[in-house]
Amino acid sequence: MALHITLLNGRLHDRASFSCGESMLDAYLRQQAGQHQRDGIATTHVLADDEAPSRILGYCSLAAAQLNLDDLQAPDRKRLPAYPVPAVRMARLAVSSDAQGRGYGRLLVGHAANCACALRDTLGVRVLLVDAKDARAAAFYSSFGFRPVTKDARALYQPLGTGLPTPHSGKADR
Ligand SMILES: CC(C)(COP(=O)(O)OP(=O)(O)OC[C@H]1O[C@@H](n2cnc3c(N)ncnc32)[C@H](O)[C@@H]1OP(=O)(O)O)[C@@H](O)C(=O)NCCC(=O)NCCS
Repeated sequence: MALHITLLNGRLHDRASFSCGESMLDAYLRQQAGQHQRDGIATTHVLADDEAPSRILGYCSLAAAQLNLDDLQAPDRKRLPAYPVPAVRMARLAVSSDAQGRGYGRLLVGHAANCACALRDTLGVRVLLVDAKDARAAAFYSSFGFRPVTKDARALYQPLGTGLPTPHSGKADR
């Protein structure tokens, strides 16, 4: 088994068969993800196995976002200017019901963080932001070090480090 993550391709990926146990997340993939990707609203990143590339094991969607400075917890505000804080929002995350518990959710969270860090070669991104739909989802994100946004119990963020992007590396120096 060799896994890869690519952008959603409506001609390749079988969206109709995807089921994660949350009908809204299944419906988003089927009905809106492609349109949002075309319209510049959000990109959808699909996890699949090289041997069955049309089968969607999981997905996450990413979009530009921002927080207010006082949305961050006090230690994370240090040395930041009094401007809105630039962010990447992982708006949705879902793993196929029959593939949950194998580390794919973790893989997609890591991929989202890598995408956000890679952007720092071209624009400022300070945090990765997620919306947890319930307490279980919040516990999942907290297990990776995400911290609650001060004024919104459902939103959590992960600071992306303080280093400068390394020239030509394509990666943030974290
Ligand atoms: C939440 C979800 C994405 C997790 O994906 P997954 O592939 O099953 O999770 P992983 O196997 O990568 O788990 C990674 C770690 O998180 C832990 N974890 C998983 N679900 C958790 C939860 N609800 N609460 C706390 N920890 C959780 C696992 O125990 C694992 O920790 P470990 O490596 O120390 O054992 C998946 O269950 C899902 O799609 N659920 C339905 C949709 C949903 O709730 N999406 C969240 C959007 S808000």
